[in-house]
Amino acid sequence: MYELNLEINHFLDTYWQKKPTVIKQGFSDFIDPILPDEIAGLAMEEEVESRLVYRDDKQQWQAECGPFETFEKLDADGATLLIQAVDNWHEEAQQLVRPFRFIPNWRIDDLMISYSTPKGGVGPHIDNYDVFIIQGLGKRHWRVGDKKALTEFAAHGALKHCESFDAIIDVELEPGDILYIPVGYPHEGYAIEPSMNYSVGFRAPDQNDLLSSFADHLIDTNENAERYTDRVMQVREKPGQIENQELEELHRVMLASCATPEQIIPLMGKMLSEAKHDLDLAPPEVPHSGEEIIEELNEGAQFMRLGGLRAMYFEQTPSLIFINGKQFDFEGCSELGQLLCDQDEVASELLALINDDQNALTLFTSLVNKGYWYAN
Ligand code: SIN
Ligand code: CO
Repeated sequence: MYELNLEINHFLDTYWQKKPTVIKQGFSDFIDPILPDEIAGLAMEEEVESRLVYRDDKQQWQAECGPFETFEKLDADGATLLIQAVDNWHEEAQQLVRPFRFIPNWRIDDLMISYSTPKGGVGPHIDNYDVFIIQGLGKRHWRVGDKKALTEFAAHGALKHCESFDAIIDVELEPGDILYIPVGYPHEGYAIEPSMNYSVGFRAPDQNDLLSSFADHLIDTNENAERYTDRVMQVREKPGQIENQELEELHRVMLASCATPEQIIPLMGKMLSEAKHDLDLAPPEVPHSGEEIIEELNEGAQFMRLGGLRAMYFEQTPSLIFINGKQFDFEGCSELGQLLCDQDEVASELLALINDDQNALTLFTSLVNKGYWYAN
């Protein structure tokens, strides 16, 4: 269980999405939840997204994508192995995300872990997400620059860098220290000793993400799409011209399907609950019955949400529950749906909600049989 030493309200008011900061000993007596060997093990798996970054003999940046069979590069200085979405694969590592749930779940993206040999780092770059970088094993030297327009370029096909920058933070992180970097601030970190870094990243879709997802959603669901029609048509002197009222009508037709926030709920719920990385989904071979689930709970089991599984609901439609990119109707048992979204693990409250409610029990049983929740 990781406890964050942080005045959360002060942090949110002063730093969140405003400026970078170091949280010295954010975790006291920090113990790494995962070993470097386990990181290497994950990098061998097909489903796990991994990358190895190093400089070659000529000091040129190199980046290779996994899965990897061997790790010779990690025998030398100057190498970093990075694994994306470790919270999807490793239960103990997943615990590191929890202390940051003072930011709502839908904003949290994933836990990325890096292992670096001395001098290892990915070079100066700018991320388009907010990140808390936790120092585990070893020490790492971090520099963070101010947010301003810097030239970005590909140091290698799979490695985007930015030009050098002056540091506004220049710090040596020790185990348990946390560096918070908002979107857009350039940074670079180089290991002083073999080093583990845990990055809890946050997502915020941009206009292009939103509109392209919306377009995809319309293509899939909008069978009777409204079509432009002429409001009035009169003889035109300027056949080359599109009149203002025509432009307005095109604009109206274009926006008609997303003119109100309510209209975008199904799409947003689907999009925001979709997993960006593979999940370690293992539905039970023999499906559970509702009675078995009640029995397990009575015997003291608790049910955990699968690591990395995204479950959420909108304040406005609390009985529509979005899980892993799909919409579930919890009409009549919305309390259960909300509990499953709000809590990472559930036990007595779950039992109280499904014990005398057949509909709730059936819904929860189907989620267990999909492998979304599992007994622990
Ligand atoms: C790393 O852990 O090496 C990279 C983290 C980051 O800069 O975002
Ligand atoms: Co970064």
